[in-house]
Amino acid sequence: MDKLRVIGGAPLHGEISISGAKNATLPLMAASLLSDEPLRLTNVPALADVTSMLNLLEQHGVEVTNDASVELKAGTIASTTAPYELVRKMRASVLVLGPLLTRCGQAKVSIPGGCAIGTRPVDIHIQGLQAMGADIEIDNGYIVAHAKHGLKGTDFSFPTVSVGATENLMMAATLATGTTRLMNAACEPEVNDLARCLSAMGAQISGIGTDTLVIDGVDRLHGADHCVVGDRIEAGTYAIAAAITGGEIELLGADIDLLPTFVGALRDMGVVVASTTRGIKVSATIDRLSPVTVSTAPYPGYPTDLQAQIMALACIAAGESQITENIFENRFMHVPELNRMGAEILVSGSTATIQGVSHLKGAEVMATDLRASVSLVLAGLVAKGETIINRVYHLDRGYERIEEKLAACGAQIERISEQPPLREVI
Ligand code: UD1
Repeated sequence: MDKLRVIGGAPLHGEISISGAKNATLPLMAASLLSDEPLRLTNVPALADVTSMLNLLEQHGVEVTNDASVELKAGTIASTTAPYELVRKMRASVLVLGPLLTRCGQAKVSIPGGCAIGTRPVDIHIQGLQAMGADIEIDNGYIVAHAKHGLKGTDFSFPTVSVGATENLMMAATLATGTTRLMNAACEPEVNDLARCLSAMGAQISGIGTDTLVIDGVDRLHGADHCVVGDRIEAGTYAIAAAITGGEIELLGADIDLLPTFVGALRDMGVVVASTTRGIKVSATIDRLSPVTVSTAPYPGYPTDLQAQIMALACIAAGESQITENIFENRFMHVPELNRMGAEILVSGSTATIQGVSHLKGAEVMATDLRASVSLVLAGLVAKGETIINRVYHLDRGYERIEEKLAACGAQIERISEQPPLREVI
């Protein structure tokens, strides 16, 4: 398993190109199942999760051409089953459920199960599809869904805001009979990106960008070309890399309008964030940043996917910060690891209280999810001495060429590839 080695202390200066958003790419790829014509996606990031989704789609019969763009053609659906071996690798695999069911009248998708950051059920996806007339039972760990005469438009109000359930139901509704009204829908930029792509494929969707989506079902969708929206979470992560090292980075292709609450929090801490013609410029010149109070919430609230990163920054602020996680029940795995690096963080329920310290110290650390791992990289960039981050495969799921991008701005960071022990090879 690869590791990252970081020597902290160098202020980062330069520019970083922001990749296409992982969380937009995965549902966009699933949307290819809705048409027998090709969907061509550009700005697709090279990530392990994208490869997992490609493998799943190929198994459903999608023809994949992967060069400058990714072309997905679901001429015929070879299988309506998403097997456990593929789904367990990535929770977003459940996004094939709505498209398969609405196009083929049936789908059998393994339940993704829990994950490191919480139990993360899929009950809302199921409730919504049932409201659209699907017969669904759980059998042997699989969601087995039938809609013999197709899905029917309905009014459905999400009991909790869910990004994935909004995407699944929106895709299902594009080919349903009649009108579907989705209320209390997620309006994350990645949901809007999917809605725009579906519209380009011929779907009739209004209310894009609001919490009420109205979808008039059509008989068929056609092919389209779509450029994936930039990754606001990647942009936010590198913004913190600039801030935590006291440097200045221009984030090329980043859109400040997609990070309203995050940018507000950084500015509260004293970080300078400005829009440029090419993206966003982030710099920090003051000696110690101010503490911050952050509470995660659905968009446009503070993103849970940037919670661990701002906690790393709060570790070296002058004073007491408070960070509350409201979306996932177990998303503080980075806390004990940051504490091993000299941070002073106490967790009580869903709130972490962080006493800023003057400096962090390098250590050997590891984390069990993507954003927790990257927060340790950020801490390592400013820590005294050497930090070794284990289990880099978490980072490879969501950050394209992270060590190259950071090194180009002056970070001392390298990947250590570890060969498996000889006996495992034999
Ligand atoms: C997506 C993102 C993830 C992000 C999250 C919240 C992708 C691929 N992943 O995940 O990076 O952290 O949004 O912004 O886009 N819930 C239920 N029942 C359900 C569905 C969700 O109880 O059927 C709960 C979840 O456990 C969680 C909350 O709702 O507590 C929000 O989850 P959701 O928005 O669905 O997250 P994902 O779509 O899985």
